[in-house]
Parts: sequence; C-alpha cells; structure tokens
Amino acid sequence: MVTSHAGFPRSLVSLLASISLLAGSVNGYPFIASSSDLLERDHKPFELKLWPVGASITWGQHSQSRNGYRKPLRDELVSDGWDVDMVGSQHHGNMTDDNVEGYPGATIATVQTKAMNALPTLPNKPNLVLINAGTNDCRKDLNITGAGDRMEKMIDAILKEKDMETATIILSTLIPSDQKEVKAHRDAVNEQYRKLVTAMSKKGTSIRLAEMENALSWPQDYTVDGKADDTHPSDAGYAKMAKVWFEAIKDAYRDGIIKATGTVTSPNTVTEVISVESAVGVGPGVEVEMEVVTETITVS
Ligand SMILES: *[C@@H]1O[C@H](CO)[C@@H](O)[C@H](O)[C@H]1NC(C)=O
Ligand SMILES: *[C@@H]1O[C@H](CO)[C@@H](O)[C@H](O)[C@H]1NC(C)=O
Repeated sequence: MVTSHAGFPRSLVSLLASISLLAGSVNGYPFIASSSDLLERDHKPFELKLWPVGASITWGQHSQSRNGYRKPLRDELVSDGWDVDMVGSQHHGNMTDDNVEGYPGATIATVQTKAMNALPTLPNKPNLVLINAGTNDCRKDLNITGAGDRMEKMIDAILKEKDMETATIILSTLIPSDQKEVKAHRDAVNEQYRKLVTAMSKKGTSIRLAEMENALSWPQDYTVDGKADDTHPSDAGYAKMAKVWFEAIKDAYRDGIIKATGTVTSPNTVTEVISVESAVGVGPGVEVEMEVVTETITVS
C-alpha cells in the first residue's frame, strides 16, 4: 500500500514504491504481493512517540496494574494500525513499554519543571504529548483563575524545545473527583482548558482537547476492592480515560496535525512522509513476511 498526501507528485511516489518493493523467493516459490491483499488493517505511515505528562493520574496511582490509562490506550492504538513507542524518563506499570512523565502531587508548574528537565534527556523525542494536570492546583486552591495561563506556559515551553515544534498536544480536561477542593474548582479549570485549546488551535498550534467530562463517574470508576479513591480511577476507570485519549488522537490524525517526529515544515518546503508496505509470501501454508518502509522527503 502506498499512501501519499495531497499534492505530492505521484511519479515520485511510484518511484519510491518500486525502489522499496520487496521481492523474494522462499523455498523456490517466488512471490510478490501488495499488502492490500494481505493486510486489511490501516497501517499508519509513521510511529507515534507518545509522551504522557502529568501528575498521579498520569503516573497511574490506584491502578492495580500500575499502568493507568497507558496500556489500554497503547493497545487501542496498536490495533488501529499504529506503531507506538511510549516515551518518558520515568517507569511505572507492569506493561513492557512503561515510560511515563507522571509526578504524584505535582501542580501544573511543577509538572512543567519536571517535564522540561526530562525532555532533553529523552533519546526519542515525542511527536504526541498527552497532558493531564491541574487536579493538584485545585486541591491546593492555587490561583484557580490562572490555571489556564499556567497550562499555556507549559505547552509553549514544550513546543519551543528542540525537535518539538511539530509535536501535537492533547490536553485533557480534569476528571471527576470527590475531593472537596477539586469538586469546587474543576469546572472553572476545565472551562479555561477548553478555551485555551480553541484559542491555541486558532493560532495554528497542533492541539486538541480530550474531553473527560462525561467519561467517568465517581464512585463507580474509582472503586477497587469496594473502596473508592476520591481522585484516582480504578483500572476500569483508566480504560475509560484511554478511550477518550484514543478518540482525540484519531481525530487529530484525521485532521492531519500529527506528524512524524522532527518533521519540519515551512512555507517554502513540503515535507511528506510516504509509507510503502510490501509483502513477500510463499506458497500455501507458509508464513508471510512483511516490511514497512517509511521515507521522509523534503521538497523545496
Ligand atoms: C498486571 O497487573 C494486573 C493487575 O494486577 C494483572 O491482572 C496482570 O495479569 C498483570 N500483567 C502482567 C503482564 O504481569
Ligand atoms: C494568578 O494568575 C494570573 C494569571 O496568570 C496572574 O495574573 C495573577 O497575578 C495570579 N495571582 C496570584 C495571586 O498569583
């Protein structure tokens, strides 16, 4: 399967396709097949390097697997055809790809400091940043009217970092809570986040909202062994968060705002990512091999 974006010369696409096509013969059976014959699933043209950024909810507190929303989200993305690499300087959970940038108790400003310290140390820079932060600002009744501004500062700082300018941000509204201060301030913070995403998006930032408002309910989605945590979901609750993140990522990809890591765009250049999938198989009963070739080309 050859995927080309609008406006990219077809001739170059087919040239690349022919260069990259994998032909082979195994056990004397020569065989070339296009992946569309073999692979119905829509394999995406580049890898998602996904950076979960936030406090204890991102960390996965109260999750029995300690994976929080990350594993159910990763699983959904993989079954949607994505190659996924979780990035982050911390590790938590019993999943294999367990990277995370989650700091229990951290306010927006603290999450920013920790995330910005971690970012230069990450061997793989993310192209997708999931942010859930602000619950601790509510809990501490910390300048609630300035929460949106603090979030904007963090997002700006992340996107200014080297190789981060084309990263996509998904900002989550705060999930329900039974904690008194969070209950009191959550709506005000969420309203600021919604406006922030609309405003930044209008200005051209690659940003989308993950609207958690009706995704989870307390206490059902926060109960483990008959005990409901006031702030942190159960694994079933985290799976509901994962669904919302997944839908937001799907929409962002459909809108064309998610790019391969380090993809540079400017008014005079067009950068296209071409994915060529080719497959080699042999006669009946023999396994099929598949190769995915991804090329990034910049045309001036
Ligand atoms: C991870 O933890 C969960 C909950 O305790 C458990 O059900 C699951 O089997 C564990 N998975 C692995 C790979 O250890
Ligand atoms: C609260 O945040 C707003 C917006 O960033 C800022 O203008 C204001 O000075 C802050 N107030 C306090 C008391 O820190």
